[in-house]
Amino acid sequence: MARKKLIAANWKMYKTPQQAQAFARAFRPLISKTRHEIVLCPPFIDLAALGAALRGTKIKLGAQNLFWEPEGAFTGEISAAMLKAAACSYVIIGHSERRQFFGETDDSVNRKLRAALQAGLAAIVCVGEQLAEREAGKTEAILQRQCEVGLRSVPADHARRIAIAYEPVWAIGTGRTATPEIAAAAHLHIRDQMTRIFGGEAAARMRIIYGGSVKPENAAALMAEEEIDGALVGGASLDPKSFAAIVNH
Ligand code: PGA
Repeated sequence: MARKKLIAANWKMYKTPQQAQAFARAFRPLISKTRHEIVLCPPFIDLAALGAALRGTKIKLGAQNLFWEPEGAFTGEISAAMLKAAACSYVIIGHSERRQFFGETDDSVNRKLRAALQAGLAAIVCVGEQLAEREAGKTEAILQRQCEVGLRSVPADHARRIAIAYEPVWAIGTGRTATPEIAAAAHLHIRDQMTRIFGGEAAARMRIIYGGSVKPENAAALMAEEEIDGALVGGASLDPKSFAAIVNH
């Protein structure tokens, strides 16, 4: 089954609207020939400016988070409908930094995912084990729990709008990448979970992408693995040349 690769930039808390626009100007001509699906996920405050700078291109816009309620007295939060109105087609859910610093759980991931899908967004759901969990041999159990709870009660016909990002926490921002073999083994395990949840046909179409210190130097080897359907890129996505080199790996 040939799956279109998904390569997403997670800018985290970097770039002002002006900097986002400058990125778009420099980046657009560098990837004009790509056949992959490209998504840029800037801070909320940049969505309008970046959306305008990407108009007329195939590059998609994504957010890094959302709240599950449609509207209400939730100071500081942003709804799925607001993201749609800001021209987002994607949203990242359950990034390990949100789990670590902002109290997100598999349960909140599930509520956010269902709200995003219901609003018509596509979601990149992040899963991944911490170093101590890997060393204790718990990687598979952790991934299974994150998938089972995170995707609970999601109808199978929404599966095509879900990508899973396998991001081992020990590889994020550390310069320490999972080897292609380690990543591919985790991806296989995640696809087994998707098969159990959604059935084989839907699971075979889902993209499972890798994140954690993806760089121009390691992108080709990672994405040569049949089970690695793309990348979620943090640090190396902030520079247009470096992110373009990953896209054109
Ligand atoms: P990194 O971040 O590429 O800087 O390791 C990846 C991520 O957090 O999504």
